[in-house]
Amino acid sequence: MKALQLFLLAVLTVVATGLETSQGRANDSKEGLGIVHYQPEQVHLAFGERTASEMVVTWSTRSLPPDLQVGMTTIVEYGLLEASGQSKLSQTARGTATKFVDGGRKKATQFIHRVTLRNLKPNSTYVYHCGSSYGWSSVFQFRTVPEASADWSPSLAIYGDMGNENAQSLARLQEETQRGMYDAIIHVGDFAYDMDTSNAAVGDAYMRQIESVAAYVPYMVCPGNHEEKYNFSNYRARFNMPGDTDSLWYSFNLGPVHFVSFSTEVYYFLGYGFKLLTKQFEWLEQDLAEANLPENRAKRPWIVTYGHRPMYCSDEKEYDCNKQLETYIRQGLPMLKWFGLEDLFYKHGVDVEIFAHEHFYTRLWPIYDFKVYNGSAEAPYTNPKAPIQIITGSAGCKEEREPFSKDLPEWNAYHSNDYGYTRLKAHNGTHLYFEQVSDDKDGQIVDSFWVIKDSHGSYPEVQ
Ligand SMILES: *[C@@H]1O[C@H](CO)[C@@H](O)[C@H](O)[C@H]1NC(C)=O
Ligand SMILES: *[C@@H]1O[C@H](CO)[C@@H](O)[C@H](O)[C@H]1NC(C)=O
Ligand SMILES: *[C@@H]1O[C@H](CO)[C@@H](O)[C@H](O)[C@H]1NC(C)=O
Ligand SMILES: *[C@@H]1O[C@H](CO)[C@@H](O)[C@H](O)[C@H]1NC(C)=O
Ligand SMILES: *[C@@H]1O[C@H](CO)[C@@H](O)[C@H](O)[C@H]1NC(C)=O
Ligand SMILES: [Fe+2]
Repeated sequence: MKALQLFLLAVLTVVATGLETSQGRANDSKEGLGIVHYQPEQVHLAFGERTASEMVVTWSTRSLPPDLQVGMTTIVEYGLLEASGQSKLSQTARGTATKFVDGGRKKATQFIHRVTLRNLKPNSTYVYHCGSSYGWSSVFQFRTVPEASADWSPSLAIYGDMGNENAQSLARLQEETQRGMYDAIIHVGDFAYDMDTSNAAVGDAYMRQIESVAAYVPYMVCPGNHEEKYNFSNYRARFNMPGDTDSLWYSFNLGPVHFVSFSTEVYYFLGYGFKLLTKQFEWLEQDLAEANLPENRAKRPWIVTYGHRPMYCSDEKEYDCNKQLETYIRQGLPMLKWFGLEDLFYKHGVDVEIFAHEHFYTRLWPIYDFKVYNGSAEAPYTNPKAPIQIITGSAGCKEEREPFSKDLPEWNAYHSNDYGYTRLKAHNGTHLYFEQVSDDKDGQIVDSFWVIKDSHGSYPEVQ
């Protein structure tokens, strides 16, 4: 009897010790305001400085795993997905963890981990997970893009204004991304509605929601007005775009396209620093001039920009967006007319400008200074004499749809109030193809157009 009791006690002790250890690792004990946990969440990718061979992995943990210290190494294990289908997490890359404190009342804290994978093999599939010995994410995979070459045509999904609630397009984007349809996603500002809401819990929920897209393809972003709180702190902390501007403006190359991302918000929230506006403008001038160097433009003929608030639009309600009240980003600051982007983009031969903010889709005829400059009446987008603009802000959010003005302006080529998103396939140096997916119509294409150009460059010279 005694022996049996001792035996049972020993078994119980072993079991209890085991439990203790695993509980210790998961660590659910309360600490301060939140629950202590080390499990990685909100995993998302971005292109690194070298699009084909670098990938930046970002994720969050509520608490800092005890084997790490702020600013110290945090880990991604990864490896090539081999032809046999066997995955090997044989390589290790390390990066940094930073403490992010939201500006809200609770000063909610999380640790944001960032690791850059370098020297990746272009055009290859990798598997990876991230975390620490206190907890790992699921295993995800991504495909690196090929180096720019004539026989590679990148495909992207592009949209703005997607929130936690009413994220109409998200399910279709998840399905299509996981089926490998896209090389990258571009989210043209306005996330979550809003990332700082409820002490940043809405931002956390949003980043978890998009993980099923963003952990598989680079999720490239620009800031919108909904990111404004606390000097865009949630946006700046959660995303890691190329460059050293806290993701506010940057550019990257993909196949035959040079993409330029910028902040329209530096024109509106001047309280955060006039300097941001001047710095961005100088950077844009320099980046576009470089993209226009003959050897660069030959390699990447297309220049496509994206920023949140449009230059032109036809929304009934928008104060910052109609003919009477000039838009700052088009013309520059009121009265002074400094730092206007329409002239800058025209001068540097930007081919396509993508905007969002209005919760609908609009395609414009080629436009400069309120005048339409078709290539020809039959083929307006073949060798157009001004940039082509589209507005794609209808991915779905709790603010729902927005109405068009009753008198459609002359530059309006097509518009749709359906929820959905835009696809871009950059076929080669002469052909771009865009299409608009309607989520309301179960994935039907409601608009499509080719942009065809025999030569690229400054419009005054093209005229
Ligand atoms: C779990 O969290 C508590 C509170 O922060 C801490 O004292 C303890 O050391 C942690 N345990 C482990 C195993 O990390
Ligand atoms: C990328 O790899 C695939 C096979 O996985 C191949 O068919 C394709 O030609 C490659 N593309 C380029 C541009 O190298
Ligand atoms: C807001 O953030 C930007 C970018 O990090 C920084 O340059 C600027 O000084 C900040 N403005 C204020 C008022 O803190
Ligand atoms: C541009 O082309 C479209 C389509 O052919 C046409 O409807 C529109 O009137 C043209 N605009 C101008 C100013 O030529
Ligand atoms: C570019 O792509 C278009 C559309 O796929 C095709 O018709 C054209 O022949 C291509 N041009 C070259 C030079 O490959
Ligand atoms: Fe907006």
